[in-house]
Amino acid sequence: MRTERTQATTEALRKAAAYLQNHEVVAFPTETVYGLGADATNEAAVAKIFQAKGRPSDNPLIVHVHDSNQIKYYTEEISPMAQQLIDHFMPGPFTIILKSNGQVAPTVTAGLSTVAIRVPDHPVARALLKESGLPLAAPSANVSGKPSPTTADHVYDDLQGRIACVLDGGATGVGLESTVVDATGEIPVILRPGGVTKQEIESVIGSVKLPKPLKETAQPKSPGMKYNHYEPDAPLYLIEGDKAFFQQQIRRYQQAGHKVGVLASSSLIEQLDANEKYNCGNHDNLREVAANLYFGLRYFNHKSVDLILSESFPAEGIGEAIMNRLAKAATDRIKNI
Ligand code: TXA
Ligand code: MG
Repeated sequence: MRTERTQATTEALRKAAAYLQNHEVVAFPTETVYGLGADATNEAAVAKIFQAKGRPSDNPLIVHVHDSNQIKYYTEEISPMAQQLIDHFMPGPFTIILKSNGQVAPTVTAGLSTVAIRVPDHPVARALLKESGLPLAAPSANVSGKPSPTTADHVYDDLQGRIACVLDGGATGVGLESTVVDATGEIPVILRPGGVTKQEIESVIGSVKLPKPLKETAQPKSPGMKYNHYEPDAPLYLIEGDKAFFQQQIRRYQQAGHKVGVLASSSLIEQLDANEKYNCGNHDNLREVAANLYFGLRYFNHKSVDLILSESFPAEGIGEAIMNRLAKAATDRIKNI
C-alpha cells in the first residue's frame, strides 16, 4: 500500500475522512502525540490498526470523539464525578474510562466491559472527527514498542507502506500521551500519568488514586516481559546521580569501546562530553522536556550510538509522566549509591 503523506489542508482532510469511511486507517496529529485512527464501530477497520502497528490484540484502544456530549453514545451512565472530570478536562490530554454500552467494535475494548474515551484538542484531529462523522479508535501512530510519534516524519518512518495516509500538522504540543483515568469507581484512578497532572485532577475531584510508585513499575528489561514500550533502537540507561557521576558513566562505557549518546536538559548537557548529545530543554520547565522527550529518543536512532544515557527528572507534575515513560523505555537504572 502506498502511504499518502500530506499537509492537513481542507482538501486532504476531506480525502482522509473518505478513507476512514471506507474502513481504511489514517494517521493524524493530536495535541499529545500522533494517532492512528479508524472507525471505532467497524471491526474490520479496527483490525487494520492492530495489524499496522503490530499491536497485541489484548491491549484496548482509546475512542476519540469530537464533542464530550457524544460520550453518552458509547457508555452506560456517567456519574457526577465522571461528569466533573469531563467538564474540566475535555477537550484536552485526558482520557476517561467508563462502562461501555457495547456500541464500539469489541476489539476496541479488547473484550473489557469498559471503554476509554478522549476528546482531542487539536484543530486537525477535531476537523477530521467532524468531517468523517465517526468515533475514531486511535492508539499512538508508532510501531508497537517504539516511542510515540510527535511529528509526521516519526509516523512515516514507522508506518510507511502499512497505512493509507498521514496528515501532517507539524509537531504535537504536549509531546506525551493523555492521562488515562478510570472513573468507573467512586474514586478516580490514574492508570497512566500524562498531559493532565495528578495535582490538576485533585484540584477538581479532591482525591485520586495513584499508579504504582515508580520503583515498582520500573522493571528491568527481561526476555520474559510481555510488552516493551517507548524503546529507542539502542538500549537506554537512566542515570541517577550528579554531573560528575554522569560523566564518569559516559567515560566507563567509552573506555569499553562504546559510542555513547546523552539525553539531558540544557544546563547539564553543556557540561557533559559524549559522542552524541540531545538537549531536551530547560530542567526548570518540565513541560518543555515532555514536549521534546520522544523526539529525543528517536533522534538517536539516526546516530550511530551503542547506548543512550538519560538524565532522571523529578517525578512531580508533568515530571511524573516523563519518568513513567523513561522508566519503561529504560533497560536499567544506574544509581550513585
Ligand atoms: O494521547 C493519547 O492518549 C494518544 C493519542 C493518539 O490520543 N493515544 C494513545 O493511545 O496513547 P495508546 O493506545 O497508545 O494508549 C492507550 C492506553 C493503553 O495503555 C491502553 O491499555 C489504555 O489506554 N486503555 C484503553 N482502553 C482501556 C480500558 N478500557 N481500560 C483500561 N485501559 C485502557
Ligand atoms: Mg501507545
